[in-house]
Amino acid sequence: MRGLYRVATAVALGLLALAAPTIGQQASRPLPRDNTLCLTCHINFETEDIVAKHLAAKLTCAHCHGLSYDHANDEESAAKPDVLFGRTEVSPFCGKCHEQHKRPEVVAKALADWKGSRRPNGRLIRENAMCTDCHGDHRLPHAGPTRT
Ligand code: HEC
Ligand code: HEC
Ligand code: HEC
Ligand code: HEC
Repeated sequence: MRGLYRVATAVALGLLALAAPTIGQQASRPLPRDNTLCLTCHINFETEDIVAKHLAAKLTCAHCHGLSYDHANDEESAAKPDVLFGRTEVSPFCGKCHEQHKRPEVVAKALADWKGSRRPNGRLIRENAMCTDCHGDHRLPHAGPTRT
């Protein structure tokens, strides 16, 4: 339960003092309705859980990472996407739309069961696990030749 409480606290703090980039910042610009552009290079993300579940709710890569026009149009991909997330920014960001788990006791049990071991997505689960430690496979493999 303590781990969950901390996640909830992080979310509550995030709602009050959100330093992370907000979706609202981009509301005035038209965002793409699908992920076609990003998937031309990030094809491995097409079926990834976070991407797929949000696309079903009409939330695209750009809703979270910004338009990232320079990045997506840079053959060398030297330009970074507009919005990247540090580890401490993830839960507050997700928590803007997802306040609480529907069944916190199930999540508390999952935390207890996984603590100290790696999830299939490669993440080591600790007491203060964040959203993407448990949800999805949303990260770079960090093995490709494109990353230095
Ligand atoms: C022209 C190909 C290309 C397109 C189009 C593209 N990307 Fe990328 N992206 C890359 C490459 C190459 C990397 C670095 C990959 C690596 O390090 O293994 C990358 C990395 C990233 C990263 C991680 C950056 C980091 O520093 O951790 C994010 C986030 C990202 N892309 C988002 C997007 C989004 C959102 C779109 C669509 C708006 C997009 N990309 C379109 C090629 C592309
Ligand atoms: C619901 C919001 C959301 C959506 C939609 C989303 N992302 Fe992300 N993305 C994140 C967050 C948050 C992180 C940081 C996750 C972490 O570190 O555990 C991230 C991380 C990444 C990374 C890994 C960066 C690294 O350093 O390993 C890449 C690459 C990426 N996203 C690309 C994409 C692409 C491409 C799409 C669309 C096909 C997309 N994302 C859709 C929120 C989102
Ligand atoms: C702009 C609001 C928004 C943000 C930010 C957001 N989500 Fe979502 N998310 C939604 C909506 C809308 C849905 C689809 C309806 C639902 O299931 O709640 C959804 C669905 C999901 C689902 C699937 C739920 C199910 O019942 O299968 C998961 C898991 C999820 N989001 C996790 C995350 C994570 C993790 C982050 C941060 C990386 C995040 N969300 C960021 C709005 C958002
Ligand atoms: C310790 C692992 C773990 C962490 C950390 C975690 N979740 Fe979950 N999440 C789960 C499990 C397990 C379920 C399924 C619960 C069920 O079956 O009722 C779930 C379900 C969900 C759902 C589906 C609807 C619901 O409420 O059950 C959403 C959305 C979601 N999580 C978002 C998030 C967000 C956002 C965060 C970060 C603030 C987060 N989760 C952190 C394990 C986790």
